Amino acid sequence: MEVSALGLGTVKLGRNQGVKYPEEFSIPDDRAALALISHARELGINLIDTAPAYGNSEERLGTLLAGQRNHWLICSKVGEEFENGSSHFNFTPEHTAFSIERSLGRLRTDVIDMVLVHSDGDDLRIIKELGTLQALSELKRRGLIRAYGMSTKTVAGGIAAASECDMVMLSYNLVQQEEVKVLDACAKHGSAALIKKALASGHLAENFEDPVRASMDLVFSHPATTSAIVGTISEQHLRANVAAAKAAL
Ligand SMILES: NC(=O)c1ccc[n+]([C@@H]2O[C@H](COP(=O)([O-])OP(=O)(O)OC[C@H]3O[C@@H](n4cnc5c(N)ncnc54)[C@H](OP(=O)(O)O)[C@@H]3O)[C@@H](O)[C@H]2O)c1
Repeated sequence: MEVSALGLGTVKLGRNQGVKYPEEFSIPDDRAALALISHARELGINLIDTAPAYGNSEERLGTLLAGQRNHWLICSKVGEEFENGSSHFNFTPEHTAFSIERSLGRLRTDVIDMVLVHSDGDDLRIIKELGTLQALSELKRRGLIRAYGMSTKTVAGGIAAASECDMVMLSYNLVQQEEVKVLDACAKHGSAALIKKALASGHLAENFEDPVRASMDLVFSHPATTSAIVGTISEQHLRANVAAAKAAL
């Protein structure tokens, strides 16, 4: 799979409760969401990231990507459910299979390009004890997903995931750099590395003249970085992010 250097994160297309962004926001309506997606496509983005835990993001993408499914590589997740304002987690093989079937229906597709385990923070327990990755491996064998990995929250978990999966999603930004060791492990094992929170979820460092450019410089300075998934609902920010990524590459 050939992914663009930036991906579009879609938390803000489906959920505005229980999120840690600096400012409150309204979820874009279909017209605005479609314009954002078209704009991303025009800017060369082909990766879009969603999850069952992002409110109705998956269902919305099922509708919004109609007629352009082939352009997009879709990344979704398993394990976290967000209901009535709070998250709960289920990493069992049975729930994993159920969740993928449900995501296929919501996304109106017959295959999901990438699926990540949406960790609750107990990364190593999920990897070593719960059978979630084995369930994803079986779903890949059956052709329901094309690749899988884990969105980790710990350095040890990220390193373990890098050796066992096709890809890892990790946090890496100007104020959070301990997971650089996960990037090193991705380089060692040849697994893909998707960066989440490249812009520190919008809490941009003030001690940089151009924090967006500095963020992209950091993220793309590591040779293992495959793509940075940036969560924006602003076309202007999207353009600035693409320009900064281009300058960094
Ligand atoms: N798997 C996981 O556990 C996990 C966790 C977190 C995130 N993610 C994924 O990663 C994606 C990105 O993470 P994130 O949304 O937390 O963090 P992020 O991409 O670092 O930051 C997004 C925030 O930054 C703002 N922003 C974006 N571009 C900007 C710019 N050029 N100038 C100023 N502000 C800008 C956005 O506001 P505007 O909308 O106003 O641009 C938004 O509030 C998510 O959408 C999701 O797909 C996954």
